[in-house]
Amino acid sequence: RRLVIIFGGRSSEHEISVISATNVSKQVDTDKYELILVGITKEGKWLKVDSISSMEDGNWLNSKTSAYILPDATKKCIMVETGGEYKEVHVDVVFPVLHGLFGEDGTVQGLLELAKIPYVGCGVLASAIGMDKLYTKLVVDKLGIRQAAYEAVLDYEVREDLSGKIKKIEGRFDYPVFIKPSNAGSSRGVSKALDREELKKGILEALKHDRKVLVEETVVGHEVECGVLGKPGDVTASGVGEIKSAATFYDYDAKYKLDSLTLLDSKLPDGVREKLPEYAKKIFTALDGFGLSRVDFFAKEDGEIVFNEINTMPGFTAISMYPMLFEAAGIGKKDLIDRLIELAFE
Ligand code: DAL
Ligand code: MG
Repeated sequence: RRLVIIFGGRSSEHEISVISATNVSKQVDTDKYELILVGITKEGKWLKVDSISSMEDGNWLNSKTSAYILPDATKKCIMVETGGEYKEVHVDVVFPVLHGLFGEDGTVQGLLELAKIPYVGCGVLASAIGMDKLYTKLVVDKLGIRQAAYEAVLDYEVREDLSGKIKKIEGRFDYPVFIKPSNAGSSRGVSKALDREELKKGILEALKHDRKVLVEETVVGHEVECGVLGKPGDVTASGVGEIKSAATFYDYDAKYKLDSLTLLDSKLPDGVREKLPEYAKKIFTALDGFGLSRVDFFAKEDGEIVFNEINTMPGFTAISMYPMLFEAAGIGKKDLIDRLIELAFE
């Protein structure tokens, strides 16, 4: 069977996707699958990539061969093009190891639905909701699981005047507050505001990334994460891991550049290790999740669990929590990748 791994992409998490996809590719059972690598450049050009090593040294960007999924459902193929010559190559399954916009948000999933090619992970709806913090909130609000209180700031409401919104936010929350673009990956455009000036600046900055912005209360607690694997009605959750961040909060730099520690057996408030995997499964199911997700929470010292966000295509870097959590649960990396690909056929 032929497996296509798609990586890179136009999102701000392009580089992380290349690393994740390198790790995933190395774990694919090559007795079972013939592997084809397709990289999407930051500009959005689709390239056929020769080798995993060219992903590691960046040489894949020099590929002279294009490859793109054809939406024609009767073909189920990628078109491989070299020097104007086109070849149809049949595809059995796709693993879109893409993070953030244009990959983790339902767009590529939509293309694969059209093409009628099975793919790993969440479908269009769950991917789109999971990528959008405001819509995720609306779904999770219905579950009775606590999440950070928030005020939505919509571009068209504040275009003329931001002061009414600022007043409302200040009436509801104490500083500091967090400002987040609703639809963005890896903490880009996110900031923490300690006063009105920073709040204004932060909202305007976040609005550059999205038309919808959330302002959230500060939640003080352990940053904890849980992986889920499976399909509706048959979802397995991993144990709980904790992130200890080097920076003031777990932002883009802290995540990938500074040392953030990933702890699998840290001391957490009573009850958290038991309850949190159940919450993770509930949220995944409510979002119509399929395949995999990593669900992130805060655990307060009094044991209260506060949902933060869901990542429908979590990182697979060397320091990523998702594969680590399942390894700790007895599902090694090879086995995990194999199960994820098998699920795509269900
Ligand atoms: N969005 C990154 C890749 C993660 O959540 O792991
Ligand atoms: Mg994310």
